[in-house]
Amino acid sequence: MSERIASAELRAKLMSADEAAQFVNNGDLVGMSGFTGAAYPKALPTAIANKAKEAHAKGDAFTIDMLTGASTAPDCDGVLAEAEAVNYRMPYQSDPIMRKAINAGSMKYQDIHLSHSGLQVEQGFFGEMDVAIVEVTRITEEGHLIPSSGVGNNLEYLAAAKKIIIEVNEWQALELEGMADIWSVPHLPNRTPIPINNVGDRIGNPYIQIDTNKVVAVVETNAPDRNAPFKPFDDVSAKIAGNFLDFLEGEVAAGRLTYDGYIMQSGVGNVPNAVMAGLLDSKFENIQAYTEVVQDGMLDLIDAGKMTVASATSFALSPEYADKMNREAATYRKSLVLRPLQISNSPEVIRRMGLIASNGMIEADIYGNINSTHVNGTRVMNGIGGSGDFTRNAFISSFISPSVAKDGAISAVVPFASHIDHTEHDAMVVITEYGFADLRGLAPRDRVAKMVSVAHPDYRALLEEYYDRALKSTTSFQQTPHDLKTAFNFHLNMIEKGSMKG
Ligand code: COA
Repeated sequence: MSERIASAELRAKLMSADEAAQFVNNGDLVGMSGFTGAAYPKALPTAIANKAKEAHAKGDAFTIDMLTGASTAPDCDGVLAEAEAVNYRMPYQSDPIMRKAINAGSMKYQDIHLSHSGLQVEQGFFGEMDVAIVEVTRITEEGHLIPSSGVGNNLEYLAAAKKIIIEVNEWQALELEGMADIWSVPHLPNRTPIPINNVGDRIGNPYIQIDTNKVVAVVETNAPDRNAPFKPFDDVSAKIAGNFLDFLEGEVAAGRLTYDGYIMQSGVGNVPNAVMAGLLDSKFENIQAYTEVVQDGMLDLIDAGKMTVASATSFALSPEYADKMNREAATYRKSLVLRPLQISNSPEVIRRMGLIASNGMIEADIYGNINSTHVNGTRVMNGIGGSGDFTRNAFISSFISPSVAKDGAISAVVPFASHIDHTEHDAMVVITEYGFADLRGLAPRDRVAKMVSVAHPDYRALLEEYYDRALKSTTSFQQTPHDLKTAFNFHLNMIEKGSMKG
C-alpha cells in the first residue's frame, strides 16, 4: 500500500480516519471529491459522522457545509445525513436519507448547474473553504495526486481549502493513471478558451498539483465505489430506445447527422442507460461522447467497437461494471478521458462540439417546459446536475422518459410543469415509449398536439380537455394559453386522490 504514497513528505502525514477527523470542525466549509457514486472519500465521512454523533450526544452543535462534485453514496452522503452532520449541501445529491432531510427542511440544499459550482467556489461565493477531502489512486514522489474514478471539482477545492486531507484508495486500479486530463481553467475575467476541439483531445497533465504544505493528513482506504445498479431493461425502455433511434435516423435523413459523426451526451439514470443499449444494434459507428459521466452502456459501446472515445468527469458505473473497469482500466484508458467538471460541462465547449443531449426528466408540460428535479413542484428528487449545462448548449437537446410513473398514477406529460428546470426555449425533443415530440421550429400552440401524442393514452383526453379550456379561458392570452385556475389539477389530483387522473 505505501508504494501508493511515493512522496516521503506526505507519507509522514499518514494517520487513521478518526485522527484525521480532528481537522474538521463544527461550522466548517468542506469540499469533498465524489461524483455519482465514484471517487468520493470512503473513510472520513464516517469518521466525521461519528464525531458529530458524539457532539450531539453531549448536547453540542456539530454540522458542516458540504460541497462535492455531485452525488456520492450511502457511506458518504448517507452516513453524514443520518448523523445530522450536514447544515448545507451543494451542488447535487441523490441519497435517500439526505433527500428526506432536505424535503423535511432539516437540511439546506442548493441545487446548481454543475459547471457553475467550481467557479463559484473559486469566486468565494460560499466563503473561505476550511478543508478539502479528496480521494486519489496514488501520490507521486513530487506530491502530485493521481485522480481515482472521477475529477469533479477537486482542483477548485484543493486550491481553495486551507487544509487538505487525502484518502489513498487501494481499491482503485493503478492503471487509472493516465485517464485523467488535468487542465486548470484560467481565472476570470477575459479567460482564454479551453483548447479542446475534439472529444478526445488531451490538453493537460495526468495529475493534480497541490500545495503540499496544506496537507494535514493522508489516510489509506480500501473500499469500492458504491453506485446503485441500473434497473434491468424492460419493454418500455426498449421502446424509448427505439424511438430515440428513429429520431436519430430522421436527423440522418435530414442531412444534419451522419452515421459516422454522432457525438452524444447522456444523462444519469436508468432510461438514458437503456438508450445506449439501443445504439449497440444501430447503424451508428465511431460514436463519441462529450458527456458528464461514463455509464455501463458506454463501456458496452466501447467493447463492441461502436464508441471510439468518451470524455467525462467521472464514472457512474454499476458495481459489476466498476469491477470490470478496475480489471481493464489499462485498456479503457485508451478510449476514456476524465476531465475537471468545469471542462466536461463547459457550456462553451459543449456548444462547439455540436452534440446531441439526452437527459431524463420528471415531467414535461404541453409547451415543452421540463421539470427534472421536483415531484409535485416541491419535493426534490435529485437535482439539475449537468442537465442544464448540456441542454442549454447542445446542438439538439432531448428529454427521455417513460410516459407514466408509479404504475400509471403519474403522467410525465402535464398541463403546466410544477417546477421548471429547462424552459421551452431550450428543450427541443421529448421522447417516451409512444414516440418523439419534435418541438423544433414550432410556436407554443403548435407543440401541444406533439406533446399529447407522446403522453400515455390514459392521459391524452385529459390533456386535450385542459388545452381546450386554456384556449377559451377569459384570463388567458393566445401566445401560451393557460387556465391558471386548473393548470395544476393533475398535481392536485395526485396529492388528494393518489392519481393524476383524479
Ligand atoms: N413523479 C414522481 N416520481 C417520478 C416521476 C414523477 N413525475 N418521474 C419519475 N419518477 C420516479 C420513478 O418512479 C423512479 O422512482 P423509483 O426509483 O422509486 O422507482 C425514479 O423517479 C427514477 O425514474 P426512472 O423512470 O427510473 O428514470 P431515471 O432513472 O432516468 O431518473 C430522473 C429520472 C429525472 C430522476 C433523473 O434523470 C434525474 O435525476 N435527472 C436530473 C439530473 C440530470 O438530468 N442529470 C444529467 C446529468 S448530465
